[in-house]
Amino acid sequence: MTDIRRHWAGAERDIDCLSVRNGVLHIEEMNTLDLAARFGTPLFVFSTAQIRQNLRRFHEAFANGWPGPVDVLPAFKANTLLATRQILSNEGAGADIYSPQELAGVLRTGVDPQRVSVNGGGKSKDHLRTCVEAGVRITVEDVHEIDLIQEVAAGLDTTAGIRFRVKPAMPNLWRRTDFSQLSVPIDLGVQVYKSGIPPEYLPDMGRRVLAMPNVDLVGLHLHAGRHHPSLWYWEGMMVRYARLIGELSRAWGGWQPSEIDIGGGFASPRDPHNKEMPRSEFVATALAYPFLVGLRGMGHRAYHATLGKLIPVLTSHKDPAAPPSIEEYGRTVTSVLLRELSEQGIATDGVRLQLEPGRALYGDTGIHLATVKTVKRQTDPVPYTWVLTDTTVFFLTGGVLEHNRHPFVFVGDANAPATQLADIVGHSCYADQIVLGARVPDVSEGDVMALLETGAYQESSASNFNALPRPASVLVDGDEAELVKRGETIDDVFGRDIVPDHLSDEAARYT
Ligand SMILES: Cc1ncc(COP(=O)(O)O)c(C=O)c1O
Repeated sequence: MTDIRRHWAGAERDIDCLSVRNGVLHIEEMNTLDLAARFGTPLFVFSTAQIRQNLRRFHEAFANGWPGPVDVLPAFKANTLLATRQILSNEGAGADIYSPQELAGVLRTGVDPQRVSVNGGGKSKDHLRTCVEAGVRITVEDVHEIDLIQEVAAGLDTTAGIRFRVKPAMPNLWRRTDFSQLSVPIDLGVQVYKSGIPPEYLPDMGRRVLAMPNVDLVGLHLHAGRHHPSLWYWEGMMVRYARLIGELSRAWGGWQPSEIDIGGGFASPRDPHNKEMPRSEFVATALAYPFLVGLRGMGHRAYHATLGKLIPVLTSHKDPAAPPSIEEYGRTVTSVLLRELSEQGIATDGVRLQLEPGRALYGDTGIHLATVKTVKRQTDPVPYTWVLTDTTVFFLTGGVLEHNRHPFVFVGDANAPATQLADIVGHSCYADQIVLGARVPDVSEGDVMALLETGAYQESSASNFNALPRPASVLVDGDEAELVKRGETIDDVFGRDIVPDHLSDEAARYT
């Protein structure tokens, strides 16, 4: 079980909305058992204070080291709840958005359009028209996009502010990317990712845009993602980014950016990313496999007894290392960029530095509450225990895609010692392994648990497998809690279905 005190290496200020009071997990001033009783489970719960604090902390960490304005543009995809987004818009934050629908969402909250970065490849003319009309920043991903933008902006008799999303080669980033459970260097991980304009097209695209009457190239954008939690990664990426900016400036006759966007990709404090399975497990199981199979020669009893003993070894997990603090991240990025850009002859005074944190902004703002439905045990042929809950990995899809291992707490007795090894599973018909090989206390039906660090990418990626209605979301502010998205009903689940009349009529004939 998780010691909820988080360890944020080098944190100068650590604000945590979670605490354990009299053994019970609280989020801000709210008792999580009360929340589960009042709103039911499964339930997503978010903290207003944590959202505000995280945003301010990112801003301050970067503003401290940068000579120009700093904009935080939280990635809306990580949390598409309009209530949480409203908090950010009220605080003056911009937004990174991807789809036309995300754009419509953030605009509803009164965000400053000039601080909205519209990402995404294959933008349609209609979408571009909406962008130009709204006055947002268009972050260009495709070569032909610039001609469409010129056409649309000319048609509206206005100028569109655009940036190029670049994708520099980063052979200096040789460590293994966390996006794969295999051993793939970050540089290769970046190159096979579809987003970003390959450098070969940039010199010509820039020269063409600079000659376009209705398009203003205001800056550059780079988002590579959360490949590695370390400061080493950020230092290496910023070096290559600054060099590319210098090269492009020279290719474009001394052009200077007025906006430099570094994207997202910073780890969240209890970073669950790609922690589902230690990498050593691939080697261990590959080496142990012939041995395990060979054990069958010992006869069924001895074979299963040995397997039973090996399960805890194969599923054991070390606690993950703490990622750097937001302050260290800000210091590293700003100092490396300032040094490298100055070497490249790029002025930084007055240049806007922008960042688009998703997981690091939202991750620790949310928890997911679930109730134990039953504890299922098997002793023969191999001992095994499952804690079956009323949630499912299908409500935590973003985490599944990134092989997350979420820290968890049984909220009613958060300090209870772990007494057993069990898989915490969901109630869909899949294996639905939420936490494999978890060390859990003596739990039973009705106990409530919280999966931590579920504020980013989980609620926004939940799906309806097994016709399960997606859970509600609640926003906590001090000792108040309000519903900000209702849970789905069976009518929502089947609401888009259409049974053609001829099929219904056919059924009627047989009844
Ligand atoms: C353009 C862009 N910016 C920011 C983000 C947020 O990334 P993260 O959640 O890793 O911070 C993403 C995520 O995919 C993205 O595509």
